[in-house]
This record gives sequence, structure tokens and C-alpha cells, in this order.
Amino acid sequence: MNNNIALITGVTGQDGSYLSEFLLAKGYEVHGIIRRSSVDYRERIAHLEGKPHFHLHYADMGDSMSLVKLVGLVQPTEIYNLAAQSHVQVSFDAPEFTADVDAVGVLRILEAVRTNHLEKTCKVYQASTSELYGKVEEVPQNENTPFHPYSPYAVAKLYGFWIVKEYREAYGMFCCSGILFNHESERRGETFVTRKITLAAARIAQGKQEKLYLGNLDSLRDWGYAKDYVECMWLILQHETPEDFVIATGVQHSVREFTDLAFRHVGIELKFEGEGINEKGICVGGPEHLVGKTLVEVSADFYRPTDVVNLWGDPTKAKAKLGWNPAKTSFEELVKLMVEHDMGKVAAEGAAEKVRTNLAEYLEKGIVK
Ligand code: NAP
Ligand code: GDD
Repeated sequence: MNNNIALITGVTGQDGSYLSEFLLAKGYEVHGIIRRSSVDYRERIAHLEGKPHFHLHYADMGDSMSLVKLVGLVQPTEIYNLAAQSHVQVSFDAPEFTADVDAVGVLRILEAVRTNHLEKTCKVYQASTSELYGKVEEVPQNENTPFHPYSPYAVAKLYGFWIVKEYREAYGMFCCSGILFNHESERRGETFVTRKITLAAARIAQGKQEKLYLGNLDSLRDWGYAKDYVECMWLILQHETPEDFVIATGVQHSVREFTDLAFRHVGIELKFEGEGINEKGICVGGPEHLVGKTLVEVSADFYRPTDVVNLWGDPTKAKAKLGWNPAKTSFEELVKLMVEHDMGKVAAEGAAEKVRTNLAEYLEKGIVK
């Protein structure tokens, strides 16, 4: 019998997909929660479906009964609670849904463990966030930095953080939060700033997009590689005592710097001119037809009512206590691997279009029926 049974909420997300691969490689039986959607397109985990130790179940973070039943059925030894409405800007448009999933959802998971009397045998990892530091009160941020959440998303996640701490103290549960700073990858959702930039750079380089519109270019982030970060989630649950950890690289860059480097990787040199809403990224080197053109503009559509602008993590505790290496993938390597992936993806999109075009032509000519 396998003693390592993991239940992952948010298995279809960026982190859920990497964590599934990581745990399967460690010999875990992995169960994931999926929810009904009108399009059954689970791109990130498609390669895992059908594997003998990988199982998917329908449930929803908003449906406590489904969670209680599933935890009872699976009898997990570890739960990784990654499910969330994870987009900060969207949380301003859907604050109640965000609170239900990102705050009360955490409580539902903890109660599902207790209802099934698994509090002494099942450890719980909560996907907490650097957004808790929000309107930051010190830089860099560590486990002792005061929280100042600055969006409906962050306020919901703050509840999640505290309820995990409460259940640890009240019921002696092994439940902890990883306070993760931004982590990106070639599987990052396409509306988060890094992926939006790498996809746009690839499309502009291949003549499939004219311009990239962004919001706050001055915003500073501590960006790491998601594949490195899921290892830490596991390490946090293997530590002898349940504790919360900051997971970050300890290196900070601006959105402008990310954009500049991503465009460099596709052979386009940008020069930024102007300020605030009037700032523009002009092509000053690269393909002749692009030189002199404005390729990046700022749009107020991507400004947030309150924006977190100075995230910079201090991973000293994770390094010392978990032996985790925050420098495994550098910022430069991260940008490069995302851009290279998206150059391929965009080229393949072109190929698919070409196949469709050919098909239309063949249908017209009666070559295919
Ligand atoms: P993501 O790609 O947006 O994935 C979110 C996951 O949550 C998806 O699997 C999604 O399912 C699922 N989900 C959303 N609402 C749900 C509901 N009501 N019931 C069940 N599942 C639901 O996020 P991520 O980047 O992998 O992040 C994972 C977690 O870490 C999130 O909690 C996020 O807030 C947190 N976090 C992320 C970062 C980061 O930089 N990536 C940093 C700190 C913390 P669908 O596929 O069906 O939508
Ligand atoms: N999304 C987006 N789109 N952000 C932009 C844009 C744009 O066009 N232009 C500038 N930004 C700025 C945002 O204002 C923000 O300051 C920064 O880029 C990063 O935005 P996101 O990539 O959307 O990520 P986030 O930092 O708000 O949230 C992510 O990281 C958190 C951890 O700090 C998400 O993954 C959260 O779930 C996670 O908790």
C-alpha cells in the first residue's frame, strides 16, 4: 500500500501541473480536483492523464460537501491547496467569488480534514502569497514583515493564511503556508504580465502582432521559476515542524526590465521614452521593418485601483531550514526559456493556421471532401 497519497486542489493550474509531475516522480499516488467547464481543455496536465498513479475527481472549492466526500474517499496523507481565483486584477471585478474560493475555500479544506478525522495523519500546504505584504512596510520581505494586503485577492489570501495558523494552534494540525513570491514558466497563464510579454514579443517578432499594451512598467517583482518552487511546497511538508516559509529568489526586477530582456531574446532592441501613461517602447534595433516603430505602449486598462509595486523576498529561512536553492534558475534563464517556448508556440500557431488555410483551399477545389 502506498503511504504517500497527495490531494492537489488547483491541479490544472501552472503550479498544480508541475507539482503533480514532481510528486509522481517521487512515487506518490496523486489525486487532483477538477471542475466542470464548458470546454474540457486541460492542456497543462494532458500528458499525465491516463497514468496509473494519477487520478482526477470533480469537486469545487465553493462546495464543502464535495470536498468532505473527496477527502474521505482519497484519505490523503498530504493536501496541497493550490486552487484559487489567482488573478489580482480580476479580484477587483469579482471580489465575492475571490473571497469564497481563496478565503473560505481554505477553511472548507481544513474542515474536510477534520470531518474525516484525519487531522493527525494528513498534512496541509496552503498556497499563500507575497501579495500579503501589499503596500509594503519593509524591503526585502521576510516571515516577520508585517502584512498590508492591497487587493481583494490579497485580503482573501490573508484569511487563508490566518485560518491555517489558527488550525495549527487550535487542533495541532500539520498545516502551513508557503508565502510564495511570483513564479512564472512556459505554463504561466497568458494574462499574467510575464507571459503576456513573452507571447507578445514572439508574435511581434513573427509579424503576428503590432503592439503590446501594458500597465505599470515601474512595478517591481521577485520572479522565480515555478518548477523550482513546487519542490519547496513539498519540502515545507517534509520539515519536522509545521512552519510558514517565504519562497523567493531574493532578486528584484521591474516590468520594464522584463519587457526589455524578452524583446532582446527575439532580436528586438527597445528604447523606452516618456513617463507614466505616455511611456513608449520604441524599436531601435532589429528587423528593418520594425526599427523606429512603437512596439510597447501603456494603457490605463491595465492599471489597478491599488497596485503592489515593490515585492522583493528574503529566502534566508527556506535556504537554511529546508536546504532549498533560490538561485537554481536565474532571471535571465527564466526569461529566455519562456521566450524560446513562446517563439515555438507562436510558430506552431502559424503552422496550424496554414493547415487550416490549405484545408479551406482543398475543400474549395474539391481535393478533400
Ligand atoms: P493558476 O494557474 O491560476 O491555477 C489556479 C487553479 O485553481 C486552477 O487549477 C483552477 O482551475 C483552480 N480553481 C480556481 N477556482 C476553483 C474552484 N472554485 N474550485 C476548484 N478549483 C479552482 O494559479 P497558479 O499560478 O498555479 O497558482 C497556484 C496557487 O498559488 C494559487 O492559489 C495562487 O493564488 C497561489 N500563488 C501563485 C503565485 C504565482 O506567482 N504563480 C504566487 C503566490 C501564490 P481551472 O483550471 O478549472 O480554472
Ligand atoms: N497582469 C498584468 N498585465 N500585469 C501588469 C501589466 C499587464 O498588462 N502591466 C503591468 N503589470 C503589473 C501589475 O500591475 C503588477 O504590479 C505586476 O505587473 C505583476 O502583475 P501579474 O503578473 O498580474 O502578477 P501579480 O503580481 O499581480 O500576481 C501574481 O503573483 C502573486 C504573488 O505575488 C499572481 O500569480 C498571484 O496569484 C500571486 O499571489
